[in-house]
Amino acid sequence: MADTQAAWDALAGHGRTPIARLIDSEGAARLEALVHSQSGIRFDWTKTHLDPETLARFAALADAAGLDGARRALFAGERVNVTEGRAAEHPAERGEGHPESVEEARMFHARMRALIDAIDADAFGPIAHILHIGIGGSALGPDLLVDALGRDAGRFDVAIVSNVDGAALAEAVRGFDPHATLVAIASKTFTTTETLMNAESALGWLADHGVEDPIGRCIALTAAPEKAVEWGIDETRILPFRESVGGRYSLWSSIGFPAALALGWEAFEQMLEGAAEMDRHFRLNPWATNIPVLAAFADQLYAQEHGCETRAVFAYDERLRLLPSYLQQLEMESNGKRVRADGTPIGRHSAPITWGGVGTDAQHAVFQLLHQGTRLVPVEFVAVREPGHHFDMAHHAALLGNCIAQGAALMAGRANAADPARDYPGDRPSVTLLLDRLDPRTLGALIAFYEHRTFANAVLLGINPFDQFGVELGKAMAKALEDEGADNFDPATRALFAAAFDADDESA
Ligand code: F6P
Repeated sequence: MADTQAAWDALAGHGRTPIARLIDSEGAARLEALVHSQSGIRFDWTKTHLDPETLARFAALADAAGLDGARRALFAGERVNVTEGRAAEHPAERGEGHPESVEEARMFHARMRALIDAIDADAFGPIAHILHIGIGGSALGPDLLVDALGRDAGRFDVAIVSNVDGAALAEAVRGFDPHATLVAIASKTFTTTETLMNAESALGWLADHGVEDPIGRCIALTAAPEKAVEWGIDETRILPFRESVGGRYSLWSSIGFPAALALGWEAFEQMLEGAAEMDRHFRLNPWATNIPVLAAFADQLYAQEHGCETRAVFAYDERLRLLPSYLQQLEMESNGKRVRADGTPIGRHSAPITWGGVGTDAQHAVFQLLHQGTRLVPVEFVAVREPGHHFDMAHHAALLGNCIAQGAALMAGRANAADPARDYPGDRPSVTLLLDRLDPRTLGALIAFYEHRTFANAVLLGINPFDQFGVELGKAMAKALEDEGADNFDPATRALFAAAFDADDESA
């Protein structure tokens, strides 16, 4: 593992000059260094504490951490996921990676496309509704894509259900005609309890409504086709993807099936191409102009040097309302770790807590804390120049105006010595991502940007971002409770279990 301590030490005390002063003193050079456009997205770090000296020190850290080699290994299909002994080949889904993996991904995509053509040709009878069942990476990505781009596509109604709470499934199928519904069961492992339970219930729902061959209406999206066959799905209705594509990086594979179906194949391909453009940008550019890397520098500046515990993302566009939840899994499951890839303690904080919402709603709920709270929260605004509706342009002007004003207000503040309750300290950082338009290509590039930024952060910290062992203990204990009850648990848990399940529990 690379020794980065000296490079971290060299950062101490840097990146603290007030942002407004940096903007005044650096002039046009600041715009040149900290505003970059790529794939129809303008990335703007001018309202952060990054300055030339701090950037140079971060560049030295990136070198010391071996970011160049790590990025080469990622795209070469090497085993960068060392704890699980495999590659992380989501870029190959977009055509950027080891040639054999790219070829295999193409083959699986062709299979997906053929099935979509068959559905379009009514091979399953007339289909109007798609019930996509999955959880975590097998739901959040497709949900984001369909919600962001599929509202006006009008090809199919797509409902995505993840929670094991039956209320979620009930809500998902409300208004669906079972005879015109296809069920897509999305699970990389095809072992996830919630997904399989929802799938069983969906089969029951089809059967209860007189659908003749319920299992014949199910399609499996999985990297474990043999498990799907075992579960009862015919091989012809299985859309496989490669084991080396991680769950939270899988929307480019057959896990993206509902999006490809709802938006059409061409749109899905454009999304892959947008992501591939970002792949090439990340792979080929030096640190000073490398967008995911600059983002990681700002992330680390705030997480390590300013001690920020969270990072907030606000989508100033209703179509991107699911972006914060998507990013929560991407960033927190990837980099929420306490040891480095070699098992040694990280020795500093890992991923901050990602949270967020939509503007302008969030302004009337949580922005109070951002402007005047005691905790510093770096904010990320994501906005789109072109509106996603046909109402009066005044809506969009107000939306974008609010977004821009919030960044300016957080930074400038407003002193009021006479009335501390009305004093705004300012010097609060924000980054703005401004998309020209929200189309498949741009969204693909945006998501790939977030993936590579997460990877760059991981490399700076020495983390393996591609495993997620932290989720296993809770799963195992839930299974033990389900199978054996709470007898082998601690007294507090036994009491809680009794309160939840025993009708005659005295403490209830
Ligand atoms: O429990 C975490 C997790 O393994 C995620 O990483 C994954 O995206 C999700 O569960 C779903 O897993 P699967 O696709 O195998 O059902």
